[in-house]
Amino acid sequence: MSDAPLILAIDTSCDDTAVAITRGVVVLANVVASQTQLHKQYGGVFPTVAKLAHKENIAPTITAALRRAGVTWDAISAIAVTQGPGLAPALEVGIAAAKELAIKHQKPLLPINHIEGHLLSPLARPQRKTETVADFDSQQVNNVLSLVISGGHSEFILVKKIGEYQRLGWTIDDAAGEALDKVGRMLDLGYPAGPVMEEFARLGNEKAFEFPLPMTTRQDYQLSFSGLKTAARNKIETLQATQDLTKTQIYDFSASFQRAVFRAICYKLNKICNNVEIANITEVWLGGGVAANIELRRMIRETIKPFGLQLRVPYSKKICSDNAAMIGLVAGVRTVSADQTFERKPRLGLVV
Ligand code: KG4
Ligand code: ZN
Repeated sequence: MSDAPLILAIDTSCDDTAVAITRGVVVLANVVASQTQLHKQYGGVFPTVAKLAHKENIAPTITAALRRAGVTWDAISAIAVTQGPGLAPALEVGIAAAKELAIKHQKPLLPINHIEGHLLSPLARPQRKTETVADFDSQQVNNVLSLVISGGHSEFILVKKIGEYQRLGWTIDDAAGEALDKVGRMLDLGYPAGPVMEEFARLGNEKAFEFPLPMTTRQDYQLSFSGLKTAARNKIETLQATQDLTKTQIYDFSASFQRAVFRAICYKLNKICNNVEIANITEVWLGGGVAANIELRRMIRETIKPFGLQLRVPYSKKICSDNAAMIGLVAGVRTVSADQTFERKPRLGLVV
């Protein structure tokens, strides 16, 4: 049994009320009260609606996480909570709840960066009843290239060591998940469209529609998806000018657009792997909601294979999308200074 401290973690950065119990990298409970159904009618997340739903869900979600882990407050060593980035009204609810509980139960409060959560999420491990869990050795992590691909972020981050990060590239406009969601909305796929597009893409022909490869004239590792989104809008409008899209056209469009987004990511990924100065990368990690996509994983594996690199992904889809297990995990693998009075930081970046 590991003697790492038991953490109760909270994330309310967007539209999911998430509470987890973790010990080191081991996840004892990972409860997510999703608001997807509430926001569907708006085709995106409506911040004030999210805030109200978080307020309603937070207490029962905490109770459910403690029950599922089979622990009481006495066993909890600290409370970790997302400080940012995220929607200000949503972050506020999780932080307020965490502060209140920290006072009530006399626990240290640990502010955590949501992006660092996604970044380290491939390290998470489920709890297995029969297994003895050894302490995680953070020294094992050296020069890992991590891709955080979600609805809010698309970043290449070099993890020199845990806690020592260098941002190599990021999107200059939309995030990859955001682009999938926006084009999915044009195709009437509902919200969020990413998972539906993945399903439809399996039924379609990825060569049916051609899209440009963005950002090829720049030598850096920056990404951009807004040009692809505009190209998609123009194509859809042209098609719709004569008649509604057929099912086959929607499948083909999903396959072609999804591939265009992932191709843009893999193009820059290949560039990074080729750079001799950062070529001593030991492993590639993928986190964030879009990391659940099997085709993205396949394309990344194909890109990094010639460099002798392996891809590590979160152990379940629930660890890819927003969750609090990844927040507890950050506190479990590096020292985070306690702060009982910190404020939300909606635009918090990853410290470099
Ligand atoms: O990490 P996440 O839950 O929230 C943010 O921090 O943004 O990511 C949500 C994003 C959405 O854009 C959603 O469409 C996308 O992840 N997503 C997917 C898949 N599952 C979720 N995109 C493509 N394929 C999927 N299977
Ligand atoms: Zn996220």
